[in-house]
Amino acid sequence: MADTITVTDNRTGKSYELPIEHGTVRAMHLRQIKANDADFGLMVYDPAFTNTASCRSHITFIDGDEGILRYRGYPIEQLAEQSSYLETAYLLIFGELPTRSQLDQWVHDITFRTFIHENVKKFMDGFHHDAHPMGMLVSTVGALSTFYPESKEIFDEEVQLLQIHRLIAKMPTLAAFAYRHSLGLPYRYPDNDLSFTGNLLTMLYRMSEAKYDPDPVLERALDLLFILHADHEQNCSTNAMRSVGSSHPDPYSAIAAACAALYGPLHGGANEEVLRMLTQIGSVDRIPEFIKEVKAGHGLLFGFGHRVYKHYDPRASIIKTMAHRVFEVTGRNPLLDIALELEKIALEDAYFIERKLYPNVDFYSGIIYQSMGFPVAMFPVLFAIPRTAGWVAQWREMLQDPEQKIARPRQVYLGYDQRDYVSVERREPGGTPVASGAGQAAR
Ligand code: ACO
Repeated sequence: MADTITVTDNRTGKSYELPIEHGTVRAMHLRQIKANDADFGLMVYDPAFTNTASCRSHITFIDGDEGILRYRGYPIEQLAEQSSYLETAYLLIFGELPTRSQLDQWVHDITFRTFIHENVKKFMDGFHHDAHPMGMLVSTVGALSTFYPESKEIFDEEVQLLQIHRLIAKMPTLAAFAYRHSLGLPYRYPDNDLSFTGNLLTMLYRMSEAKYDPDPVLERALDLLFILHADHEQNCSTNAMRSVGSSHPDPYSAIAAACAALYGPLHGGANEEVLRMLTQIGSVDRIPEFIKEVKAGHGLLFGFGHRVYKHYDPRASIIKTMAHRVFEVTGRNPLLDIALELEKIALEDAYFIERKLYPNVDFYSGIIYQSMGFPVAMFPVLFAIPRTAGWVAQWREMLQDPEQKIARPRQVYLGYDQRDYVSVERREPGGTPVASGAGQAAR
């Protein structure tokens, strides 16, 4: 049997045989299907890309129906158990697990670049005292491009790699400085004797002590959370990274765009919303009333639902298990009881069952972050730090892909046909009526 599909255009009676590659048809192959010679050709209409593959990728595999997530073929459960965030970042970016010497060099190259230019501190100081740390991160990571003008040489392998080291290394420093600024505390410089997450904890929490000693359980828990958040194929922020990156700016500018996309409550801002939601519910007995409101269309059950997972998000299962280890150190977060009961009730409810709404990665991560002492405003920032590895891996893959060009979707124009300019004296409220109707399929 041929790997093709035959399409018959009922407007003309003509048939077209289109190749099927990797379970897809090329949208451009539809262009030959025309109603008449003047016709532009058929396009696909797919708002929010719900059924459109924008690239071919070798990085992350998700089977949303089965609840499977793999980085470069390795199951997320195995990486969470046995790998570290920096090793996972190497895997995502270069495609293979590093040898011992490659890993040592990689860790060194990143650790060596954790410091930021002193001038960054100055514009960090310019933010208002209650500025949201994610807003500060979006701006400061974009501003790094002005410190590294050579970063525009994106096709120079050596320059590209240097920016990758810098980005992974400096995101925790920017994040920690944003946090310290919001509390009016002095910035703490990186401690390069510590692990990636140990160093982050130091920059966040060290006060007068000469050397901060991070709790190994929390250090490891944070590292594990970073592994789980490192990549998730073509999500909203990765799509922003690829889309902005496709016009070939330096990677700092593209990462700023990705961070901005992550900031939204439907994406990386969701765990912040989960915490607010759980706090607002306040007690287990108020859950049924809350669920009733959600089902009536008054708000969302944040931390539930996913564009791809129509099954339990595998990251949520790992986090739920890990939560208990963290609580042994931090004490039990009372919001966990509300979350567990909320999950139980939702998973038994026809509304959530029919729509295949299950807990996603954000449902439990916020509770852990809060127990570790992070304010909710830091949650999206804690997402952006590890997702940097995925963003740069996807950006690099895009630059190496000969099929990729500047991203530029089409539209279906349904606005006015041509109409004549009307002077301000003659205009009527609500617009000047025109004779011809809307609906010109312009390209
Ligand atoms: N609570 C209540 N109802 C929901 C929820 C939810 N969390 N999510 C989806 N639904 C409902 C929708 O209202 C819709 O109902 P309808 O068919 O009666 O209109 C149906 O389920 C399908 O939902 P869509 O919005 O079409 O699904 P989509 O794939 O577009 O959205 C999304 C996915 C954005 C994640 C959505 O589920 C949501 O808003 N969830 C809450 C926010 C959240 O937790 N985001 C984190 C995602 S994970 C991440 O980014 C790391």
